[in-house]
Amino acid sequence: MKQFISVHDVKNINALVEKALMYKADPFKDRTLGADKRIGLLFLNPSLRTRLSTQVAASNLGMEAIVFNVDKEGWALEFEEGAIMSGSSVEHIKDAAPILGSYFDILCIRTFPSLKNREDDYSELYISQFIKYCGVPVISLESATLHPLQSLTDIVTITEELQKSKIKNQKSKPKIVLTWAPHVKALPQCVANSFAQWINAWGEADFVITHPEDYELSEQFTKGATIILNQDEALKDADFVYVKNWSTYKDYGKIYENDPRWMLTEEKLKLTNNAKVMHCLPVRRNVELSDEVLDSVNSIVTQQAGNRVWAAQSVISEILRTL
Ligand code: CP
Repeated sequence: MKQFISVHDVKNINALVEKALMYKADPFKDRTLGADKRIGLLFLNPSLRTRLSTQVAASNLGMEAIVFNVDKEGWALEFEEGAIMSGSSVEHIKDAAPILGSYFDILCIRTFPSLKNREDDYSELYISQFIKYCGVPVISLESATLHPLQSLTDIVTITEELQKSKIKNQKSKPKIVLTWAPHVKALPQCVANSFAQWINAWGEADFVITHPEDYELSEQFTKGATIILNQDEALKDADFVYVKNWSTYKDYGKIYENDPRWMLTEEKLKLTNNAKVMHCLPVRRNVELSDEVLDSVNSIVTQQAGNRVWAAQSVISEILRTL
């Protein structure tokens, strides 16, 4: 693996998932694989899980991990080619990225979308410019449109659940429902786009997406999923329910809907096949998901977040083997 930006960088999803589960069973199996290698984690936006799980994963492989909060501690970066830098940006990515590439063997970057201009965000300008100029393998820690480490983790978690439950024996494919949920802020589509992209590419689920009218995601990610606008109908017999808010894609970055009836509650969970409930976190309690659901045995959000380490470890190890 030369980089990890989307599912398209992965030859065999199940092999990567099994590798993550292998590291979960034996975290220090490859403790010297990354000896004398350094990984840089660059954050243009906040993080708890991505930051710490990637550091732990790198450390398990014997790497030195250095975190740089670019948004708080670095110079304001310019990403536009040919920009006349007479505004607030101080350093062009063309100048900064090769220097970062000379300090590290692998670079990871988190760059959220602006949610102001869809064409700019969906062109993935920031991460593309970074890849173009840094000269070393890049791992996305969440970009303008995708969050691949989260999605790999999600499939690891679903696989783990399927291996220990009877769902696999009862049905040829588990039913997985991605449901929109209310939120107080306009959020990116990254997690939902990425989850849809990975579940579709995985091909081992009956995959349904439910959201209010006008909350369609880009078809480039959802193609292959069944879209049902009635949440109750969509939840019927679900084995896994993935809860996530996103802002509108068509009329970009807006909040059209905040109906609390879209929150996942115990009542709604009764429609499912005693589904496991997933969320990437952080979660707004009693807005996106009720306390009762989050604190119930159906919730696997802590297990899911814990699995971020093993997903990151499997990806870093794949890249280390190519250096
Ligand atoms: N799920 C996730 O990416 O969490 P953080 O934003 O805390 O890293």
